[in-house]
Amino acid sequence: MTMIVGVPPIKSQGIKTKLVPWIHSVVPKNFDGVWIEPFMGTGAVAFNVAPRRAVLCDTNPHLINFYTAISSGEITSNIVKEYLIREGTTLLSKGENHYYFIRDRFNSEHSPLDFLFVNRAGFNGMIRFNRKGRFNIPFCKKPQRFAQAYVTKITNQIAWVSKVIALKEFVFKCQDFSETIQEAAASDIIYCDPPYIDRHVDYYNGWNNICEHQLFTKLSSFDGRFILSTWHHNNYRENEYVKQLWSKYQILTQEHFYHVGGKEENRNSVIEALVTNFMVTSVQCSATTQVQYNLLDSLVAHEI
Ligand SMILES: C[S@@+](CC[C@H](N)C(=O)[O-])C[C@H]1O[C@@H](n2cnc3c(N)ncnc32)[C@H](O)[C@@H]1O
Repeated sequence: MTMIVGVPPIKSQGIKTKLVPWIHSVVPKNFDGVWIEPFMGTGAVAFNVAPRRAVLCDTNPHLINFYTAISSGEITSNIVKEYLIREGTTLLSKGENHYYFIRDRFNSEHSPLDFLFVNRAGFNGMIRFNRKGRFNIPFCKKPQRFAQAYVTKITNQIAWVSKVIALKEFVFKCQDFSETIQEAAASDIIYCDPPYIDRHVDYYNGWNNICEHQLFTKLSSFDGRFILSTWHHNNYRENEYVKQLWSKYQILTQEHFYHVGGKEENRNSVIEALVTNFMVTSVQCSATTQVQYNLLDSLVAHEI
């Protein structure tokens, strides 16, 4: 059966929306423990898997603040609608200066609404923070960004996420993955989607050899079940950590296409992997559709 996948209100270059049916299909049908995500990112996986209980963590405080504000009712679809209509109207009349005004305001006050604004009006919905922890993605260059249809789309995404959070027991925490894994119980499932080494490094997204080994050690000594998303190989190289570390577990693979810019020749195929420490009995393939996945390198940032 085809799964209908919801899209969260926050975008990011590492979002797993297109792989959700595949990830969801490996979750045991009778699972009733706590779903734990040490690297929640946009929350795309958790909101779609929609377990009864979840602990969703990330070291990026702005992601956690945003979903905590939805959870507490500080942000609702009506509040977002009013805010985006107001700021979108000013963006239309003042142009990119208004984007940079909101970006500066976000960087000093950290309001979750301003985070949504810069995320949805920034270049290709990317998240990147400089060494001082300041959001530095440039404007998408579309002053008409928050036209009515786009505001409706975002408010529907907020309504969907608000509903999932209201119906379930979801807890959001800003903390390092090691702490999150430490807190998990044997009856839980940990779903890990760490940053891929060498890609999209920023203030909250550094990942290196030491981190990968620490993650391996932590997950290997966990008594419950885990699922890890990583990449297996592309046209040029293999992920050496799959061979070196993860190969003692079950590894499932699926081809996935990333788009770098809009041109067909820039379509890159990557074999994605799901590593599990339990036997998966039925697996559903996601449709191999394209996903926007733009290289940060090609950006000319206004603030580095
Ligand atoms: C690939 S993204 C997760 C994407 C997510 N599955 C989604 O669909 O949106 C990785 C996330 O890990 C977070 N992160 C990076 N280092 C971390 C660490 N040491 N502990 C916890 N989270 C970390 C980043 O802030 C980022 O949000």
